[in-house]
Amino acid sequence: MMQLANRMSHLGTETAFEVLARANKLAAEGRSIINLGIGQPDFKTPDHIVEAAVKALHDGQHGYTPANGIPELREAVAADIEAYRGVRIDSDQVVVQPGGKPTMFFACMMFGEPGAEIMYPNPGFPIYESAIRFSGATPVPIRLYEENGFSFSADEVLAGITKRTRLIILNSPANPTGGVTQKAELDKLVAGLEAHPDIAVMSDEIYSRMVYDNQPHVSLLGYESIRDRLILLDGWSKTYAMTGWRLGYAVWPGELAAHATRLAVNDHSCVNAATQWAGIAALTGPQDEADAMVKAFDGRRQVILDELNTIPGFRCPRPGGAFYAFPNIEGTGQGAQALQERLLEEVGVAVVAGTSFGALGEGYLRFSYAASTESITEAIARIRVLLGND
Ligand SMILES: Cc1ncc(COP(=O)(O)O)c(C=O)c1O
Repeated sequence: MMQLANRMSHLGTETAFEVLARANKLAAEGRSIINLGIGQPDFKTPDHIVEAAVKALHDGQHGYTPANGIPELREAVAADIEAYRGVRIDSDQVVVQPGGKPTMFFACMMFGEPGAEIMYPNPGFPIYESAIRFSGATPVPIRLYEENGFSFSADEVLAGITKRTRLIILNSPANPTGGVTQKAELDKLVAGLEAHPDIAVMSDEIYSRMVYDNQPHVSLLGYESIRDRLILLDGWSKTYAMTGWRLGYAVWPGELAAHATRLAVNDHSCVNAATQWAGIAALTGPQDEADAMVKAFDGRRQVILDELNTIPGFRCPRPGGAFYAFPNIEGTGQGAQALQERLLEEVGVAVVAGTSFGALGEGYLRFSYAASTESITEAIARIRVLLGND
C-alpha cells in the first residue's frame, strides 16, 4: 500500500469541473443539457490575440522565457494597471503565471503553515480554502451578507484578526456571488488594517473589468497604506475569454516577487512563450471585443435576474459584477446539493450548489450567465416546471 502524505487529504477541489464533466457525459448520451455551471465566457478569444500567438510560434518563440514572464509582457501589465487602476508600479513586481490560480496557491504556500491563520471569503472561490488547508494553516471564513450585496463586514473581519493571522484574501467582483464590495467597506477595512502592519492581503480582482451599473472597479491597489503588503491578482482568463490559454499575473510587493518567481521556477519554469505574446496583444490591442463581451454579460444579467425571481422559492439579489447570479433557494425547502443534482439529472440544467463554495453557501445555487439569453430563458423555464410539479 503506497503511503500518501497527510497533506493530500486536506486538498479540496473545484466542483464546477465535476459538474461540467457530468453535464458533458449526459450530453454525449444524447440528453439536452444547458450548462450554467462552469465559470468561463462563452465567447472565443478575439482574433488579433490568437494571431499574435500564431505569429510568435512562426517567429520561433519556442524556448523557455524568464520565470516571471517576458519583460515586454510585464511592461504591458504595468501600463494596463496604470490605465485601469491609476497606480504606477514597477514591472519587476509583476509575476506572470499559468492562470490566476497559481497566485493564490503560491500566496498560501508563502504564508500558510500549521499555527497560522488565513482569512478568506465564504462563500468564495473554493481554491482559497483548499490551498489554505493544504498549507497546514487554519482557514478562517469571512462571512458575506446577502442583504449587503454579498459584501463582508469590515468590523467583523477586523474583529476576527488574531496574533496568528498572516494573510487576508478578498475577492471583488466575486465568485460565486457576483457581489461587489462597496468602497465604504473597503475604506473601513484598510483603515483598520493600518493597526496590523504584519498582515498581508491578497486581492483577487480577476473580474475587475466586469462591474456593472456604471460603478467603477475599486482596486485595493489604490490604497497606499497597504500597498507594501498587497498582492494583486488579475489576468486574462475572464476579460479576454482566455481560460484555456492559462495566463494570469500578480503584482507582488517588495521581496515577495522574488519568492513567487522562485516558486514558479520550482513548479513550472515559465508560462508557454507564445501565450505570453498573445497576452501582450490582448493588453495593448483594441479593447472593443472585451468591452462588447461585458456589455453582453450585462444584458444577460438583467434577464437572469428577472427570470430567477419568478421561480417559486427563489430570491435573487442583483449581482453587481462578474457573470454569476447566486439566488437564495431556501424557499424551495431543498438543500443546495440535492437541488443541484435534481436540476442536472431531471431537467438537464447544470448549476453549482452554493456549498461547493464553502459551508456558508448552503441555501444558494450559483448560476453562471456566461451563456446565451435563449439558454438562460430555457433553463429557468425547465426549473420552473420541475419545481411546479413537485
Ligand atoms: C475568483 C476567481 N479567481 C481566480 C480564478 C482563476 O482564474 P484562472 O482560470 O486564470 O486560473 C477564477 C476562475 O474561475 C475565479 O473565479
